[in-house]
Amino acid sequence: MYKIAVAGTGYVGLVAGVCFAEVGHQVTCVDIDENKVNLMKSGVSPIYEAGLEELMQKNFAAGKIDYTTDFQSAYKDADAIFIGVGTPEQPDGSANLSYIATVARQIAESIEKDCLVVVKSTVPVGTNDKVEQFIKDFLVHDVRVEVASNPEFLAQGSAVHDTLHAERIVIGTESKWAEDLLMGIYEPFGLPIVSVNRRSAEMIKYASNDFLALKISYMNDIANLCELVGADVQDVAKGMSFDGRIGSKFLNAGIGFGGSCFPKDTKALEYIAKQHGYELRTVKAAIDVNKDQKTLLYKKASKRLITFNGLKVAVLGLTFKPGTDDLREAASLENIPLLLEQGADIYAFDPVGKDNFARLYPEGQNGRGNMTYVERIEDALDGANVCFIFTEWGEVKAVDPETYKKLMRTPLIYDGRNLYSVQKMKDAGVEYHSIGRQSVFREGVKESKHRELQTIGL
Ligand code: UDX
Repeated sequence: MYKIAVAGTGYVGLVAGVCFAEVGHQVTCVDIDENKVNLMKSGVSPIYEAGLEELMQKNFAAGKIDYTTDFQSAYKDADAIFIGVGTPEQPDGSANLSYIATVARQIAESIEKDCLVVVKSTVPVGTNDKVEQFIKDFLVHDVRVEVASNPEFLAQGSAVHDTLHAERIVIGTESKWAEDLLMGIYEPFGLPIVSVNRRSAEMIKYASNDFLALKISYMNDIANLCELVGADVQDVAKGMSFDGRIGSKFLNAGIGFGGSCFPKDTKALEYIAKQHGYELRTVKAAIDVNKDQKTLLYKKASKRLITFNGLKVAVLGLTFKPGTDDLREAASLENIPLLLEQGADIYAFDPVGKDNFARLYPEGQNGRGNMTYVERIEDALDGANVCFIFTEWGEVKAVDPETYKKLMRTPLIYDGRNLYSVQKMKDAGVEYHSIGRQSVFREGVKESKHRELQTIGL
Protein backbone atom coordinates (compact mmCIF):
# COMPACT_ATOMS: atom_id res chain seq x y z
CA MET A 1 0.00 0.00 0.00
CA TYR A 2 1.33 3.41 -0.97
CA LYS A 3 0.32 6.85 0.22
CA ILE A 4 -0.73 8.72 -2.90
CA ALA A 5 -1.80 12.30 -3.49
CA VAL A 6 -3.50 13.35 -6.71
CA ALA A 7 -3.46 16.95 -7.92
CA GLY A 8 -6.56 17.92 -9.91
CA THR A 9 -9.90 16.14 -9.87
CA GLY A 10 -10.92 16.28 -13.53
CA TYR A 11 -11.40 13.15 -15.62
CA VAL A 12 -7.77 12.11 -15.35
CA GLY A 13 -7.07 12.94 -11.69
CA LEU A 14 -10.31 11.88 -10.08
CA VAL A 15 -10.60 8.59 -11.94
CA ALA A 16 -6.95 7.74 -11.22
CA GLY A 17 -7.39 8.60 -7.53
CA VAL A 18 -10.52 6.52 -7.15
CA CYS A 19 -8.96 3.55 -8.95
CA PHE A 20 -5.79 3.73 -6.83
CA ALA A 21 -8.00 3.60 -3.72
CA GLU A 22 -9.98 0.74 -5.21
CA VAL A 23 -6.83 -1.41 -5.58
CA GLY A 24 -5.80 -0.69 -1.99
CA HIS A 25 -3.72 2.50 -1.86
CA GLN A 26 -4.35 5.39 0.54
CA VAL A 27 -5.38 8.35 -1.59
CA THR A 28 -5.91 12.09 -1.08
CA CYS A 29 -7.31 14.06 -4.01
CA VAL A 30 -6.45 17.76 -4.06
CA ASP A 31 -8.41 20.46 -5.83
CA ILE A 32 -8.47 24.24 -5.48
CA ASP A 33 -12.25 24.38 -5.73
CA GLU A 34 -13.75 24.15 -2.22
CA ASN A 35 -17.29 23.51 -3.50
CA LYS A 36 -16.07 20.65 -5.64
CA VAL A 37 -14.21 19.15 -2.69
CA ASN A 38 -17.32 19.30 -0.51
CA LEU A 39 -19.38 17.76 -3.27
CA MET A 40 -16.95 14.86 -3.62
CA LYS A 41 -16.84 14.36 0.15
CA SER A 42 -20.62 14.00 0.08
CA GLY A 43 -20.24 11.22 -2.49
CA VAL A 44 -21.21 13.20 -5.57
CA SER A 45 -18.99 13.08 -8.65
CA PRO A 46 -18.44 16.43 -10.38
CA ILE A 47 -18.32 14.57 -13.70
CA TYR A 48 -20.70 12.06 -15.25
CA GLU A 49 -18.82 8.80 -15.59
CA ALA A 50 -20.22 5.28 -15.40
CA GLY A 51 -19.45 3.55 -12.08
CA LEU A 52 -17.43 6.45 -10.67
CA GLU A 53 -19.79 7.62 -7.94
CA GLU A 54 -20.24 4.10 -6.59
CA LEU A 55 -16.48 3.67 -6.23
CA MET A 56 -16.11 7.15 -4.72
CA GLN A 57 -18.71 6.38 -2.06
CA LYS A 58 -17.41 2.89 -1.34
CA ASN A 59 -13.77 3.95 -0.91
CA PHE A 60 -14.64 7.12 1.02
CA ALA A 61 -16.69 5.06 3.47
CA ALA A 62 -13.76 2.64 3.81
CA GLY A 63 -11.43 5.58 4.59
CA LYS A 64 -9.25 4.86 1.55
CA ILE A 65 -9.88 8.14 -0.25
CA ASP A 66 -10.33 11.70 0.88
CA TYR A 67 -10.64 15.09 -0.81
CA THR A 68 -9.10 18.37 0.26
CA THR A 69 -8.01 21.85 -0.78
CA ASP A 70 -5.13 21.64 1.71
CA PHE A 71 -2.36 20.56 -0.68
CA GLN A 72 0.36 20.97 1.93
CA SER A 73 -0.90 18.26 4.24
CA ALA A 74 -1.75 16.02 1.29
CA TYR A 75 1.69 16.31 -0.30
CA LYS A 76 4.03 16.46 2.68
CA ASP A 77 4.34 12.72 3.37
CA ALA A 78 3.08 11.18 0.12
CA ASP A 79 5.10 8.38 -1.50
CA ALA A 80 3.92 9.59 -4.88
CA ILE A 81 2.02 12.62 -6.16
CA PHE A 82 0.15 12.25 -9.43
CA ILE A 83 -0.49 15.42 -11.41
CA GLY A 84 -3.73 15.33 -13.39
CA VAL A 85 -4.46 19.01 -13.96
CA GLY A 86 -5.47 20.39 -17.34
CA THR A 87 -3.13 21.41 -20.15
CA PRO A 88 -5.60 23.40 -22.25
CA GLU A 89 -4.87 24.39 -25.80
CA GLN A 90 -3.65 27.94 -26.38
CA PRO A 91 -4.59 29.96 -29.46
CA ASP A 92 -1.39 28.90 -31.27
CA GLY A 93 -2.10 25.19 -30.60
CA SER A 94 0.51 24.82 -27.85
CA ALA A 95 -0.37 23.38 -24.45
CA ASN A 96 -0.85 25.76 -21.51
CA LEU A 97 1.39 24.46 -18.73
CA SER A 98 0.60 27.06 -16.09
CA TYR A 99 -1.55 24.69 -14.00
CA ILE A 100 1.24 22.11 -13.95
CA ALA A 101 3.75 24.78 -12.95
CA THR A 102 1.55 25.93 -10.07
CA VAL A 103 1.18 22.38 -8.75
CA ALA A 104 4.92 21.70 -9.21
CA ARG A 105 5.77 24.70 -7.05
CA GLN A 106 3.26 23.68 -4.37
CA ILE A 107 4.80 20.22 -4.33
CA ALA A 108 8.32 21.62 -3.99
CA GLU A 109 7.28 23.73 -1.06
CA SER A 110 5.33 20.97 0.69
CA ILE A 111 7.14 17.65 0.49
CA GLU A 112 9.01 16.53 3.60
CA LYS A 113 10.08 13.03 2.51
CA ASP A 114 11.37 11.34 -0.66
CA CYS A 115 8.69 11.48 -3.26
CA LEU A 116 8.00 10.54 -6.86
CA VAL A 117 6.03 13.11 -8.82
CA VAL A 118 4.11 11.48 -11.65
CA VAL A 119 2.77 13.55 -14.51
CA LYS A 120 -0.43 12.07 -15.92
CA SER A 121 -1.50 15.19 -17.80
CA THR A 122 -0.64 15.21 -21.49
CA VAL A 123 2.42 17.40 -21.87
CA PRO A 124 4.81 18.27 -24.69
CA VAL A 125 7.84 16.05 -24.99
CA GLY A 126 10.55 17.26 -22.63
CA THR A 127 8.16 18.91 -20.17
CA ASN A 128 8.84 16.38 -17.43
CA ASP A 129 12.54 17.26 -17.48
CA LYS A 130 11.55 20.86 -16.89
CA VAL A 131 9.02 19.97 -14.17
CA GLU A 132 11.71 18.03 -12.33
CA GLN A 133 14.15 20.91 -12.52
CA PHE A 134 11.44 23.36 -11.47
CA ILE A 135 10.57 21.29 -8.39
CA LYS A 136 14.22 20.92 -7.44
CA ASP A 137 14.71 24.68 -7.80
CA PHE A 138 11.93 25.43 -5.34
CA LEU A 139 12.49 22.50 -2.97
CA VAL A 140 12.33 23.51 0.71
CA HIS A 141 13.35 20.27 2.46
CA ASP A 142 16.37 18.12 1.68
CA VAL A 143 14.55 15.15 0.11
CA ARG A 144 14.87 13.03 -3.02
CA VAL A 145 12.39 14.00 -5.68
CA GLU A 146 12.05 12.70 -9.22
CA VAL A 147 9.51 13.13 -11.95
CA ALA A 148 8.03 10.27 -13.95
CA SER A 149 5.70 10.27 -16.93
CA ASN A 150 2.60 8.10 -16.84
CA PRO A 151 0.28 9.10 -19.70
CA GLU A 152 -3.39 8.40 -19.46
CA PHE A 153 -5.28 6.52 -22.17
CA LEU A 154 -8.79 6.43 -20.70
CA ALA A 155 -11.74 7.35 -22.88
CA GLN A 156 -14.57 9.41 -21.43
CA GLY A 157 -17.71 7.46 -20.68
CA SER A 158 -15.72 4.33 -19.86
CA ALA A 159 -13.01 5.97 -17.76
CA VAL A 160 -13.22 3.70 -14.71
CA HIS A 161 -13.33 0.54 -16.78
CA ASP A 162 -10.48 1.78 -19.00
CA THR A 163 -8.34 2.44 -15.94
CA LEU A 164 -8.98 -0.80 -14.11
CA HIS A 165 -8.70 -2.88 -17.30
CA ALA A 166 -6.27 -0.81 -19.36
CA GLU A 167 -4.68 -2.54 -22.35
CA ARG A 168 -1.35 -1.18 -21.18
CA ILE A 169 0.16 1.13 -18.61
CA VAL A 170 2.98 3.29 -19.91
CA ILE A 171 5.58 4.56 -17.47
CA GLY A 172 8.50 6.79 -18.31
CA THR A 173 11.27 7.04 -15.73
CA GLU A 174 14.91 8.06 -15.53
CA SER A 175 16.03 5.90 -12.59
CA LYS A 176 15.58 2.42 -11.17
CA TRP A 177 14.17 3.96 -7.97
CA ALA A 178 11.40 5.74 -9.86
CA GLU A 179 10.68 2.73 -12.07
CA ASP A 180 10.41 0.33 -9.11
CA LEU A 181 8.16 2.68 -7.17
CA LEU A 182 5.77 3.19 -10.07
CA MET A 183 5.79 -0.54 -10.88
CA GLY A 184 4.89 -1.16 -7.22
CA ILE A 185 1.97 1.26 -7.36
CA TYR A 186 0.59 -0.40 -10.51
CA GLU A 187 1.35 -3.96 -9.42
CA PRO A 188 -2.12 -4.58 -7.87
CA PHE A 189 -3.80 -3.71 -11.19
CA GLY A 190 -2.24 -6.82 -12.77
CA LEU A 191 -1.94 -5.14 -16.19
CA PRO A 192 0.84 -5.08 -18.81
CA ILE A 193 3.33 -2.31 -18.09
CA VAL A 194 5.50 -0.70 -20.77
CA SER A 195 8.50 0.90 -19.11
CA VAL A 196 10.47 3.39 -21.22
CA ASN A 197 12.34 6.63 -20.71
CA ARG A 198 10.46 9.81 -19.89
CA ARG A 199 10.50 11.42 -23.32
CA SER A 200 9.37 8.25 -25.04
CA ALA A 201 6.47 7.94 -22.61
CA GLU A 202 5.43 11.52 -23.33
CA MET A 203 5.64 10.81 -27.05
CA ILE A 204 3.67 7.53 -26.80
CA LYS A 205 0.67 9.50 -25.57
CA TYR A 206 0.66 11.96 -28.48
CA ALA A 207 1.56 9.34 -31.06
CA SER A 208 -1.29 7.07 -29.88
CA ASN A 209 -3.96 9.75 -29.76
CA ASP A 210 -2.94 11.32 -33.04
CA PHE A 211 -2.86 7.94 -34.74
CA LEU A 212 -6.46 7.33 -33.68
CA ALA A 213 -7.45 10.84 -34.80
CA LEU A 214 -5.74 10.18 -38.10
CA LYS A 215 -7.62 6.91 -38.49
CA ILE A 216 -10.93 8.74 -38.03
CA SER A 217 -10.03 11.58 -40.39
CA TYR A 218 -8.85 9.05 -42.95
CA MET A 219 -12.21 7.28 -42.81
CA ASN A 220 -14.03 10.61 -43.05
CA ASP A 221 -11.98 11.52 -46.09
CA ILE A 222 -12.72 8.13 -47.66
CA ALA A 223 -16.40 8.56 -46.70
CA ASN A 224 -16.67 11.80 -48.61
CA LEU A 225 -15.15 10.13 -51.64
CA CYS A 226 -17.49 7.14 -51.21
CA GLU A 227 -20.45 9.47 -51.59
CA LEU A 228 -19.06 10.85 -54.82
CA VAL A 229 -18.21 7.51 -56.39
CA GLY A 230 -21.33 5.65 -55.24
CA ALA A 231 -19.75 3.44 -52.55
CA ASP A 232 -20.91 2.87 -48.98
CA VAL A 233 -18.32 3.73 -46.32
CA GLN A 234 -19.73 1.30 -43.77
CA ASP A 235 -19.33 -1.57 -46.21
CA VAL A 236 -15.88 -0.31 -47.08
CA ALA A 237 -14.91 -0.17 -43.38
CA LYS A 238 -16.24 -3.68 -42.87
CA GLY A 239 -14.18 -4.95 -45.77
CA MET A 240 -11.08 -3.25 -44.40
CA SER A 241 -11.58 -4.42 -40.83
CA PHE A 242 -10.86 -8.10 -41.51
CA ASP A 243 -7.26 -7.17 -42.18
CA GLY A 244 -5.60 -7.58 -38.80
CA ARG A 245 -3.07 -4.91 -39.74
CA ILE A 246 -5.88 -2.37 -40.00
CA GLY A 247 -8.14 -3.60 -37.22
CA SER A 248 -11.84 -3.02 -36.77
CA LYS A 249 -11.86 -0.15 -34.28
CA PHE A 250 -12.00 3.59 -34.99
CA LEU A 251 -13.14 3.11 -38.56
CA ASN A 252 -16.49 4.84 -38.06
CA ALA A 253 -16.92 7.77 -40.40
CA GLY A 254 -19.02 10.54 -38.90
CA ILE A 255 -19.25 14.19 -38.06
CA GLY A 256 -15.63 14.46 -36.99
CA PHE A 257 -13.82 13.77 -33.76
CA GLY A 258 -14.36 15.94 -30.69
CA GLY A 259 -13.62 15.66 -26.99
CA SER A 260 -10.84 16.82 -24.75
CA CYS A 261 -8.00 14.89 -26.35
CA PHE A 262 -7.92 14.35 -30.10
CA PRO A 263 -8.49 17.97 -31.20
CA LYS A 264 -6.04 19.28 -28.60
CA ASP A 265 -3.37 16.62 -29.01
CA THR A 266 -3.30 16.77 -32.80
CA LYS A 267 -2.75 20.52 -32.68
CA ALA A 268 -0.20 20.19 -29.88
CA LEU A 269 1.93 17.64 -31.75
CA GLU A 270 1.77 19.70 -34.93
CA TYR A 271 2.98 22.64 -32.85
CA ILE A 272 5.78 20.63 -31.23
CA ALA A 273 6.94 19.50 -34.66
CA LYS A 274 6.87 23.07 -35.96
CA GLN A 275 8.97 24.17 -33.01
CA HIS A 276 11.57 21.64 -34.08
CA GLY A 277 11.45 22.86 -37.66
CA TYR A 278 9.47 19.87 -38.85
CA GLU A 279 6.15 19.80 -40.63
CA LEU A 280 4.01 16.88 -39.44
CA ARG A 281 2.01 16.57 -42.65
CA THR A 282 -0.11 13.56 -41.76
CA VAL A 283 -1.37 15.05 -38.50
CA LYS A 284 -1.98 18.39 -40.19
CA ALA A 285 -4.16 16.61 -42.75
CA ALA A 286 -6.14 14.91 -39.97
CA ILE A 287 -6.82 18.33 -38.41
CA ASP A 288 -7.90 19.87 -41.73
CA VAL A 289 -10.26 17.03 -42.63
CA ASN A 290 -11.81 17.15 -39.16
CA LYS A 291 -12.46 20.88 -39.37
CA ASP A 292 -14.45 20.55 -42.58
CA GLN A 293 -16.23 17.40 -41.45
CA LYS A 294 -17.89 19.11 -38.48
CA THR A 295 -20.11 21.36 -40.61
CA LEU A 296 -20.50 19.06 -43.61
CA LEU A 297 -24.14 18.24 -42.87
CA TYR A 298 -25.01 21.84 -42.12
CA LYS A 299 -23.60 22.82 -45.51
CA LYS A 300 -25.55 20.03 -47.21
CA ALA A 301 -28.75 21.04 -45.46
CA SER A 302 -28.17 24.70 -46.32
CA LYS A 303 -28.09 23.72 -49.98
CA ARG A 304 -31.20 21.61 -49.61
CA LEU A 305 -33.26 24.28 -47.83
CA ILE A 306 -33.64 27.92 -48.80
CA THR A 307 -33.38 29.02 -45.18
CA PHE A 308 -33.53 27.75 -41.61
CA ASN A 309 -35.35 30.90 -40.56
CA GLY A 310 -38.47 29.96 -38.58
CA LEU A 311 -37.96 26.24 -39.21
CA LYS A 312 -38.34 23.80 -36.35
CA VAL A 313 -34.98 22.03 -36.23
CA ALA A 314 -34.69 18.88 -34.11
CA VAL A 315 -31.19 18.25 -32.76
CA LEU A 316 -30.54 14.80 -31.34
CA GLY A 317 -27.35 14.68 -29.28
CA LEU A 318 -25.22 17.56 -28.01
CA THR A 319 -22.21 15.88 -26.39
CA PHE A 320 -19.09 14.93 -28.36
CA LYS A 321 -19.90 11.25 -27.86
CA PRO A 322 -22.37 9.20 -25.81
CA GLY A 323 -21.80 8.30 -22.17
CA THR A 324 -20.51 11.72 -21.16
CA ASP A 325 -21.89 15.21 -20.49
CA ASP A 326 -18.76 16.75 -22.01
CA LEU A 327 -19.31 19.19 -24.85
CA ARG A 328 -15.71 19.98 -25.65
CA GLU A 329 -15.20 20.24 -29.42
CA ALA A 330 -18.61 18.63 -30.01
CA ALA A 331 -20.16 18.99 -33.46
CA SER A 332 -23.21 20.58 -31.82
CA LEU A 333 -21.06 23.55 -30.77
CA GLU A 334 -20.09 24.20 -34.39
CA ASN A 335 -23.52 23.69 -35.92
CA ILE A 336 -26.00 25.14 -33.45
CA PRO A 337 -24.54 28.69 -33.59
CA LEU A 338 -24.80 28.55 -37.40
CA LEU A 339 -28.42 27.39 -37.20
CA LEU A 340 -29.27 30.07 -34.61
CA GLU A 341 -27.65 32.74 -36.77
CA GLN A 342 -30.01 31.63 -39.50
CA GLY A 343 -33.02 32.06 -37.23
CA ALA A 344 -33.72 28.37 -36.59
CA ASP A 345 -36.17 27.30 -33.88
CA ILE A 346 -34.08 24.51 -32.31
CA TYR A 347 -35.48 21.70 -30.17
CA ALA A 348 -32.54 19.85 -28.65
CA PHE A 349 -32.47 16.46 -26.98
CA ASP A 350 -29.56 15.00 -25.05
CA PRO A 351 -29.89 12.63 -22.09
CA VAL A 352 -27.12 14.29 -20.03
CA GLY A 353 -25.63 17.21 -21.97
CA LYS A 354 -28.56 19.65 -21.88
CA ASP A 355 -27.56 21.54 -18.72
CA ASN A 356 -24.02 22.16 -19.91
CA PHE A 357 -25.28 23.31 -23.29
CA ALA A 358 -27.93 25.55 -21.74
CA ARG A 359 -25.18 27.38 -19.86
CA LEU A 360 -23.80 28.46 -23.24
CA TYR A 361 -27.09 28.76 -25.13
CA PRO A 362 -29.91 29.33 -22.64
CA GLU A 363 -33.46 28.26 -23.29
CA GLY A 364 -35.33 30.94 -25.29
CA GLN A 365 -34.22 33.55 -27.79
CA ASN A 366 -30.55 33.29 -28.86
CA GLY A 367 -29.73 35.96 -31.42
CA ARG A 368 -32.07 35.43 -34.35
CA GLY A 369 -32.94 31.89 -33.33
CA ASN A 370 -34.54 30.10 -30.42
CA MET A 371 -33.43 27.22 -28.17
CA THR A 372 -35.74 24.75 -26.48
CA TYR A 373 -34.44 21.75 -24.52
CA VAL A 374 -36.68 18.69 -24.44
CA GLU A 375 -36.75 15.60 -22.24
CA ARG A 376 -38.33 13.39 -24.91
CA ILE A 377 -37.06 12.84 -28.44
CA GLU A 378 -40.65 12.85 -29.66
CA ASP A 379 -41.04 16.47 -28.53
CA ALA A 380 -38.06 17.46 -30.64
CA LEU A 381 -39.37 15.60 -33.69
CA ASP A 382 -43.02 16.58 -33.42
CA GLY A 383 -43.78 18.93 -36.32
CA ALA A 384 -40.06 19.42 -37.10
CA ASN A 385 -38.96 20.47 -40.58
CA VAL A 386 -35.51 18.95 -40.33
CA CYS A 387 -33.53 16.82 -37.88
CA PHE A 388 -29.78 16.68 -37.21
CA ILE A 389 -28.22 13.73 -35.38
CA PHE A 390 -24.92 14.66 -33.73
CA THR A 391 -24.41 11.99 -31.04
CA GLU A 392 -25.09 8.25 -31.18
CA TRP A 393 -26.91 7.97 -27.84
CA GLY A 394 -28.75 4.65 -27.34
CA GLU A 395 -31.98 6.63 -26.97
CA VAL A 396 -31.50 8.12 -30.44
CA LYS A 397 -30.58 4.78 -32.02
CA ALA A 398 -33.79 3.33 -30.58
CA VAL A 399 -36.02 5.70 -32.61
CA ASP A 400 -37.30 3.77 -35.60
CA PRO A 401 -37.55 5.24 -39.11
CA GLU A 402 -41.37 5.25 -39.01
CA THR A 403 -41.31 7.59 -36.00
CA TYR A 404 -39.51 10.27 -38.00
CA LYS A 405 -42.00 9.83 -40.81
CA LYS A 406 -44.97 9.97 -38.46
CA LEU A 407 -43.93 12.87 -36.23
CA MET A 408 -42.01 15.29 -38.40
CA ARG A 409 -43.69 17.85 -40.59
CA THR A 410 -41.06 17.02 -43.22
CA PRO A 411 -39.13 13.80 -42.58
CA LEU A 412 -35.73 15.19 -43.53
CA ILE A 413 -32.80 13.76 -41.57
CA TYR A 414 -29.09 14.65 -41.52
CA ASP A 415 -27.42 11.85 -39.62
CA GLY A 416 -23.82 12.56 -38.54
CA ARG A 417 -23.43 9.11 -37.00
CA ASN A 418 -24.78 6.76 -39.67
CA LEU A 419 -27.27 5.26 -37.22
CA TYR A 420 -29.77 3.93 -39.73
CA SER A 421 -29.87 1.59 -42.67
CA VAL A 422 -30.29 3.65 -45.82
CA GLN A 423 -32.75 1.09 -47.17
CA LYS A 424 -34.92 1.19 -44.04
CA MET A 425 -35.13 4.98 -44.20
CA LYS A 426 -36.05 4.73 -47.86
CA ASP A 427 -38.74 2.15 -47.12
CA ALA A 428 -40.16 4.38 -44.37
CA GLY A 429 -40.38 7.33 -46.76
CA VAL A 430 -37.79 9.42 -44.93
CA GLU A 431 -35.42 11.72 -46.77
CA TYR A 432 -32.10 10.68 -45.34
CA HIS A 433 -28.61 12.12 -45.64
CA SER A 434 -25.70 10.52 -43.78
CA ILE A 435 -21.91 10.29 -44.04
CA GLY A 436 -20.22 8.41 -46.86
CA ARG A 437 -23.39 6.69 -48.03
CA GLN A 438 -25.86 7.41 -50.77
CA SER A 439 -28.56 9.90 -49.86
CA VAL A 440 -32.22 9.02 -50.00
CA PHE A 441 -34.27 11.83 -51.54
CA ARG A 442 -37.98 12.06 -51.22
CA GLU A 443 -39.92 11.65 -54.38
CA GLY A 444 -39.81 14.78 -56.48
CA VAL A 445 -36.74 16.16 -54.71
CA LYS A 446 -33.74 16.19 -56.99
CA GLU A 447 -30.23 16.75 -55.71
CA SER A 448 -29.44 19.10 -58.59
CA LYS A 449 -32.40 21.28 -57.70
CA HIS A 450 -31.48 21.75 -54.03
CA ARG A 451 -30.99 25.44 -54.19
CA GLU A 452 -34.37 26.15 -55.73
CA LEU A 453 -36.36 23.77 -53.60
CA GLN A 454 -38.18 24.30 -50.38
CA THR A 455 -39.21 21.28 -48.41
CA ILE A 456 -42.84 20.47 -48.86
CA GLY A 457 -45.08 22.01 -46.26
CA LEU A 458 -42.93 24.98 -45.22
C1 UDX B 1 -9.74 9.56 -26.55
C2 UDX B 1 -8.91 8.27 -26.60
O1 UDX B 1 -9.75 7.18 -27.01
C3 UDX B 1 -8.29 7.99 -25.26
O2 UDX B 1 -7.45 6.85 -25.35
C4 UDX B 1 -7.47 9.21 -24.82
O3 UDX B 1 -6.90 9.02 -23.56
C5 UDX B 1 -8.34 10.45 -24.80
O4 UDX B 1 -8.95 10.63 -26.09
P1 UDX B 1 -12.19 10.22 -25.78
O5 UDX B 1 -11.88 11.59 -26.29
O6 UDX B 1 -12.83 10.11 -24.45
O7 UDX B 1 -10.86 9.35 -25.70
O8 UDX B 1 -13.19 9.51 -26.79
P2 UDX B 1 -13.13 8.51 -28.03
O9 UDX B 1 -14.10 7.44 -27.76
O10 UDX B 1 -11.78 8.11 -28.39
O11 UDX B 1 -13.77 9.44 -29.18
C6 UDX B 1 -13.19 10.67 -29.57
C7 UDX B 1 -13.96 11.26 -30.72
O12 UDX B 1 -13.77 10.50 -31.91
C8 UDX B 1 -15.47 11.31 -30.50
O13 UDX B 1 -15.97 12.56 -30.96
C9 UDX B 1 -16.00 10.17 -31.34
O14 UDX B 1 -17.30 10.38 -31.78
C10 UDX B 1 -15.02 10.18 -32.49
N1 UDX B 1 -14.90 8.87 -33.18
C11 UDX B 1 -14.39 7.79 -32.53
C12 UDX B 1 -15.31 8.76 -34.49
O15 UDX B 1 -15.78 9.73 -35.13
N2 UDX B 1 -15.16 7.55 -35.14
C13 UDX B 1 -14.64 6.45 -34.51
O16 UDX B 1 -14.54 5.40 -35.16
C14 UDX B 1 -14.26 6.58 -33.17
